[in-house]
Amino acid sequence: MKVLVVGGGGREHALAWKAAQSKQVTEVLVAPGNAGTAAEPGLRNVAIDAGDVEGLLTLARDEQVGLTIIGPEAPLAAGIVDRFRAAGLKCFGPDAAAARLESSKAFAKDFMARHGIPTAAYAVVTEVEAGLEQIQAMQFPVVLKADGLAAGKGVVIVDNLDQARATLEDMLSGQAFGEAGHQVVIEEFLVGEEASFIVIADGNKMLPLASSQDHKRRDNGDLGPNTGGMGAYSPAPCVDDSVHARIVDEVITPTLEGMVADGCPFTGFLYAGVMLTAQGPRVLEFNVRFGDPETQPVLMRLQSDLVEALVQTLDGQIDAIDLAWDPRVALGVVVAAGGYPENYAKGLPISGLEVAPPADIKVFHAGTTLDDRGRTVTSGGRVLCVTALGENVAAAQGLALQWCTRIGFEGAFHRTDIGHRAINR
Ligand code: AMP
Ligand code: GLY
Repeated sequence: MKVLVVGGGGREHALAWKAAQSKQVTEVLVAPGNAGTAAEPGLRNVAIDAGDVEGLLTLARDEQVGLTIIGPEAPLAAGIVDRFRAAGLKCFGPDAAAARLESSKAFAKDFMARHGIPTAAYAVVTEVEAGLEQIQAMQFPVVLKADGLAAGKGVVIVDNLDQARATLEDMLSGQAFGEAGHQVVIEEFLVGEEASFIVIADGNKMLPLASSQDHKRRDNGDLGPNTGGMGAYSPAPCVDDSVHARIVDEVITPTLEGMVADGCPFTGFLYAGVMLTAQGPRVLEFNVRFGDPETQPVLMRLQSDLVEALVQTLDGQIDAIDLAWDPRVALGVVVAAGGYPENYAKGLPISGLEVAPPADIKVFHAGTTLDDRGRTVTSGGRVLCVTALGENVAAAQGLALQWCTRIGFEGAFHRTDIGHRAINR
């Protein structure tokens, strides 16, 4: 069977790499992919944008693709799964109605309120003055979130009224986030450790994947601006058996039941970003897809056949899936372009990729492409994710960091403390 992976980031490199290991799979197409997927055995890049739903549908038909896996949120929100389903093609992900859990933070908050799913207290506003009125009744810091998709950058934590006004004006003017900012969610600031809890869902039932933790801030010590994620590791020790059970019972199960009750059952990867507060787990956000960079360490630990599991899920056999995990820790360090998450250069040649790492290290590409001379150059803010398996978090971190030093491009930087919470436990 042929598999199509839609997207071109680190998550998609990992999904395609893992899919290619399946006994059932003859070839994995990646649209559009990156320089890493171009070089990977068993993979073939196809130059179709992840947003080109009709182009992808034609490709899947022409190539007789047996399973399509959607990486990023944008095509899901645009209804790619609806289109594939209508055409009778197997496509793993939620339809557009279910994807609103991520594509509208206001929808997600109202959904959680309606179904009693624990989350931060909030208000949704469309006017600056109304927003400031809400904020005056709250305690700083306060969290402001642009309603729509903003590539992980639509969240600003403000400490005073001046910052709140400036941020509300920025978001609501539509200049910083366009349509995504026409509504703003104002949230109570939650304190605790964050975990990424990702499950495979078939509309009714679910199967949890290994837990993970992401580091969203740019700098060591979890400081600096929010990014799409600067590194991640799996498992997350803060998700012990009792926390695991609480997240399943208080978050995942009521979410899947609520989506059924609301007439939009959720199929696909459901990702709950959870804050483990003193009062219990609270949902920070839902994503309707696998995390990036969580996918890289999580899939490095997955020993089972991913494609078989996703096909079983779509065929109503989720109960038959038994996932096996490498007991070791996997930890991924993102190598980013100087200036990220703001402006950064592209097209910079990357050195150090010629040498293949040992089996317990994998360099997943994200923002890379081949230039007209066939060189691997940067094409995004998060460029690579160097992921390693180790006996514990410190060992995995050490291996990943060591390999990071072999790879370089002008302005490259990475955090050196991914996994610090687990190491300091
Ligand atoms: P989100 O995209 O909603 O997950 O927000 C991005 C990041 O902002 C989260 O991973 C948290 O680190 C932080 N964040 C979001 N909402 C809150 C909140 N209510 N309290 C504290 N931190 C938050
Ligand atoms: N790593 C967070 C995300 O994928 O949204």
